Amino acid sequence: MDTRIDEIADGIFRLSTLVPEVNPPSGFTFNQFLIRAEQPMLVHLGHRKMFPRIAAAVAKLLPVGALQHLAYSHAEADECGALDAWLDAATQATVAHTAVGCQIWLGDAASRPPRKMADNEVIDLGGKRVRFLATPHVPHGWDAQLFFEETTATLMCSDILGHPGDGPAIVETDLVERVIEGEKRSRSMSLTPATAPTLRRLAALKPQRLALMHGSSFAGDAGGALTRLADHFAATLRAEAA
Ligand SMILES: [Fe+2]
Ligand SMILES: [Fe+2]
Repeated sequence: MDTRIDEIADGIFRLSTLVPEVNPPSGFTFNQFLIRAEQPMLVHLGHRKMFPRIAAAVAKLLPVGALQHLAYSHAEADECGALDAWLDAATQATVAHTAVGCQIWLGDAASRPPRKMADNEVIDLGGKRVRFLATPHVPHGWDAQLFFEETTATLMCSDILGHPGDGPAIVETDLVERVIEGEKRSRSMSLTPATAPTLRRLAALKPQRLALMHGSSFAGDAGGALTRLADHFAATLRAEAA
């Protein structure tokens, strides 16, 4: 199946590949987000084996060699399995991550030195501005970070609110209850005292849309969805501590 391309906000493109073998029968999507700007950025680098098709999708929008910035949330195959392939194909590009991310994996794994980002530091792409948010263990992984594109108020939130199936590129229908039911089975989110406060921090950014790594992007009440998810995890933490 081809990788679908949809512009979910001005200059932000969702590259979505359905993998039917994951979570059958609905399948599961793996998404990257290409931010078109003077200095283009790719958020989520995809599996190593998916690189050819993702690179072909990027090439429909801009030359792969024009990419200047690469980013992912946390060290997992769907986030950064293709890291080396991107660094080879986009020779001008730098991969950016938190101090923890550089320390625990990226500094060793990357073939070129990564750019170390402070929490809340912004990369001005020229026409787009991406704020890097250090969010340890949210959705999971000590190195987790998320991304807020300020000119479109788009939060790229990795696995948060991820859901199966190959729905529309962007929906306004409420995802939270469905996601909570799935989360009760998968336990994919780390549950720590920082989980709910971190989700509330994200809600306070007042995102207008959430760019999800798995499933449809969300253009409804994004802050409300994150707050309700925070409430759920806070209640779960209390219940499990009791
Ligand atoms: Fe993940
Ligand atoms: Fe993921």
